[in-house]
Amino acid sequence: MIDIHSHILPYMDDGAKDWNMAISMAKQAYADGIRNIVATPHHRNGRYMNESFKVLEIVELLNSKLRELDLDITVFPGQEIRIHDDLLHHLEDGEIQLLHGSRYMLLELPSSNIPSTVEDVIYELSLMNIQVIIAHPERNAEIATNPDRLERLIEFGALAQLTAQSVTGEKGGKLQRLSLDLCKRSLIHFIATDAHDLVSRPFQLSRSYQVIEKKLGSEMVNYFKDNAKRLVGNLEITTNEAAKERVRGNNLAKVLSGMFRAIK
Ligand SMILES: [Fe+2]
Repeated sequence: MIDIHSHILPYMDDGAKDWNMAISMAKQAYADGIRNIVATPHHRNGRYMNESFKVLEIVELLNSKLRELDLDITVFPGQEIRIHDDLLHHLEDGEIQLLHGSRYMLLELPSSNIPSTVEDVIYELSLMNIQVIIAHPERNAEIATNPDRLERLIEFGALAQLTAQSVTGEKGGKLQRLSLDLCKRSLIHFIATDAHDLVSRPFQLSRSYQVIEKKLGSEMVNYFKDNAKRLVGNLEITTNEAAKERVRGNNLAKVLSGMFRAIK
């Protein structure tokens, strides 16, 4: 399995505290069946700054330690970038790291709302052939209240990643129901651990896939696993055509009902 969102790099953020913890987390990931990890330390979230050069340096060091231990896991560089002013500038000046040098960017929204600039950012990046992946949309209050808000971002070209623990119910039944609902609506493209430590936010991906298989079928599990593979290979992510049609249909229905209201 491939995990596309994690805080395994030590001394960077609220993830691994030191090298010992980072190695233990890698062992935990290995035991869960994970073989590739994208390291995504927080960047510009108001608390942590982890520029691209720093990420690359620590990823290289971690990989060499893992090789010394003969642990068959490879860590790739990335960042979890909080949406902020000047994001495009910071991309230009090399401060920002895309996921494993691909065309995919892991973008974090604030937990309370969706800033009005998000759609512009998604669009501007798409002109540069960069596709945004919204990190854990289920934890955004505006999306949780109204999942149509996520649908709108997906329509603008974004992709979305759920947290494994939200899917398994470890974060509560409400979050699990929302997560599965977002999957059913084909608004989700990846599942990832967002691992921060060994206990409260561990590397545990297999259990979330088991839950999805049980509740939504094995085809969806294969879809998520395949997308993670595609991401690290910098290939196009497959989106569900039927879902796209439904989004288009919903929007048309909204436009038409708006027109009828205006005529009345
Ligand atoms: Fe994260």
